[in-house]
Amino acid sequence: MSITAKQKMINLVAPALRALLAERGLLKIVHLSGDAAETALKVALPAGTESAEAVAAELRKALNGAVPPVVEVEGVGVFRVFEPGVKHGRVAGRIAMVTGGAQGFGLGIAQDLVAQGAYVAVLDVNPATTAKAVEELKAMTGRSPVPGMPPRVIGLTADVASAEAMAAAVHETVCAFGGLDLLVANAGVLRAGSVKTLSEKDFDFVTTVNYKGYFVCVQAAAPVMAAQHAADPAVRTDIIQINSKSGLEGSNKNGAYAGSKFGSIGLTQSFAMELVADGIKVNAICPGNFFDGPLWSDPDKGLFVQYLRTGKVPGARTIAEVRKFYEAKVPMGRGCLPADVMKAIYYLVDQEYETGQALPVTGGQVMLN
Ligand SMILES: NC(=O)c1ccc[n+]([C@@H]2O[C@H](COP(=O)([O-])OP(=O)(O)OC[C@H]3O[C@@H](n4cnc5c(N)ncnc54)[C@H](O)[C@@H]3O)[C@@H](O)[C@H]2O)c1
Repeated sequence: MSITAKQKMINLVAPALRALLAERGLLKIVHLSGDAAETALKVALPAGTESAEAVAAELRKALNGAVPPVVEVEGVGVFRVFEPGVKHGRVAGRIAMVTGGAQGFGLGIAQDLVAQGAYVAVLDVNPATTAKAVEELKAMTGRSPVPGMPPRVIGLTADVASAEAMAAAVHETVCAFGGLDLLVANAGVLRAGSVKTLSEKDFDFVTTVNYKGYFVCVQAAAPVMAAQHAADPAVRTDIIQINSKSGLEGSNKNGAYAGSKFGSIGLTQSFAMELVADGIKVNAICPGNFFDGPLWSDPDKGLFVQYLRTGKVPGARTIAEVRKFYEAKVPMGRGCLPADVMKAIYYLVDQEYETGQALPVTGGQVMLN
């Protein structure tokens, strides 16, 4: 079951309200609340009001320049309107979703976005690590100063490759915050292996999460972003996929992963062409290896310990020697860190005149030509 007609309508109304009620370019936080309020501005949308443009036009008419604290849309819901309340930071008051946000790059990205003032939906397939990450992130924000206002961080459990789960997760984000300004499609998996022996199951797993999952996330998020733009063409939003240096050049005995990342750059370019009409920029970041992250450094399952056990690095007798071998491949001599990726994210968000690009952050290991 995908989302209901009423949920679809909430996904159009809340983003339109955020944009229509913006003051000095700062969009509001719009929270779907269960209770009716005496003070609400009451709006009835005429039958047949279905497109984002039509919903925005009706709401604009009803608001007539006012900025009410509560708007009740008949048959849709009661929407409470809040100032974002965060004044400082590179993404202050903006709404972001980070997929695969419970650990690794995703957690680092979520931490930085929270530190820089964003409202963040942390989405991951693993409920336990998501709950832990959300607890840590909430501790960074302090208590919500205004009664009834949602916390600045929410956790969502979903598989990025499930259209149904992603539609529900985006809807939950809209109910909590009112819209979406930045989707960081970061969730990704790796199953390395020779083309001669890699199982079809492993190939399908990598392709489904990394390639199809990116499509599914964009399909779920883009209509909400477009609804903000339909209400106010000045509103611009961003989709950023965390790709890989393996999306720019082949990866030996790692074809399923590299193929999924190359393919995702094709999606990025194509989505960018289409979604420019909705004010959405779509770009990819291609990081080098994050040696300090769990994928490489996990003491039991990490790539360093795996490569040591399987003798992949000739002559290496310790994890430190395996690591040194890989660091030596990077002209800048070290692995990529979330802080390096964040600089690229803020560049892409700030840069109004670029879309459809794949930006390497590899310490010089992969150079564009
Ligand atoms: N680690 C690196 O060296 C490296 C280098 C370049 C690019 N990347 C890319 O960065 C992204 C993050 O990698 P990482 O190293 O932080 O990985 P990680 O394994 O440390 O974390 C990935 C997170 O994604 C979640 N996840 C996995 N499948 C999911 C699904 N189907 N739905 C929702 N969540 C899911 C996991 O539970 C985990 O929390 C990936 O897209 C990866 O390809 C990683």
